Amino acid sequence: MEINLMELEPRQAHDLLTSALIPRPIAWVSTINKEGQTNLAPFSFFTGVSWSPPVLAFSVVNRADGTLKDTAKNIREVPEFVVNLVSVDLLAPMEYSARPIPYGTDDLSITGIHWEPSKIIRPRRVREARVAFECTLERIVTVSEGPHAGNLTLGRVRLVHVRDDLLKAGREVDWQGLDILGRLSGNRYCAVRSVIESETH
Ligand SMILES: Cc1cc2nc3c(=O)[nH]c(=O)nc-3n(C[C@H](O)[C@H](O)[C@H](O)COP(=O)(O)O)c2cc1C
Repeated sequence: MEINLMELEPRQAHDLLTSALIPRPIAWVSTINKEGQTNLAPFSFFTGVSWSPPVLAFSVVNRADGTLKDTAKNIREVPEFVVNLVSVDLLAPMEYSARPIPYGTDDLSITGIHWEPSKIIRPRRVREARVAFECTLERIVTVSEGPHAGNLTLGRVRLVHVRDDLLKAGREVDWQGLDILGRLSGNRYCAVRSVIESETH
C-alpha cells in the first residue's frame, strides 16, 4: 500500500502518522504568559536535537482554526519553558491538562500535581515529574501556516532535574525507575516492560 498523505483529510493524515511514529515520549510543557499565568500541556511530537549544546524540540501544531495554541503563544511572549517528563502514574493529570481552556486560565490547580519554582527560568516545574528540563527558547521553526501547521520549538536545556534515586553512576537515568509513559495513538499508551539488550554494543 502506498499512501500520499497530502491527498488525505488532515484527520486521516494525523491518524496515520501518529499510529506509525510510536512509541513517543511526552513533553509536558509548562509556560507562563506575560501576566505570569501558568499553562501546562502535553506534546508527543517530541525529541532530542543535540547534546552540545543540549537542545530538545517539540512541535505545537496550530489549532483547526489556524490559531496558535496557548503554549506557542506563551513561548512567544516569555521565551522560557520547562519540559517535564511523564511517567505512567501521571497519565490522568497529563490528559486533563490537554483539555482546551480559555486563554489566560491558570493551570496551577490541576489535581494530582504540585508546583516547584524553577531555578533558572520563570515558569514553574511539576514536582511529580521524575525528570524536568528547564529550557530557554533557542528558536521556533514554523512549518507552513494555517490549520495544523507546525511550530517546531527548540529549547536550550539550562538545567536538568532528576529525582535523586534515579541517577545511576552520576550520569544516567534509570529507565525502570523513570517508568516513562509512551504515547501510541488514539487513547493508547505504553510502558517500558520488555527491554532488549543487544550483544554488539
Ligand atoms: C498525549 C498527548 C500528546 C499530544 N501531543 C501533541 C503534539 O505533539 N502537538 C500538539 O500540537 N498537540 C498535542 N496534543 C494536544 C495538546 O496537548 C492540546 O491541543 C492542548 O489543549 C494544547 O494546550 P495549550 O493550548 O494550553 O497549549 C497532545 C495531547 C495529548 C493528550
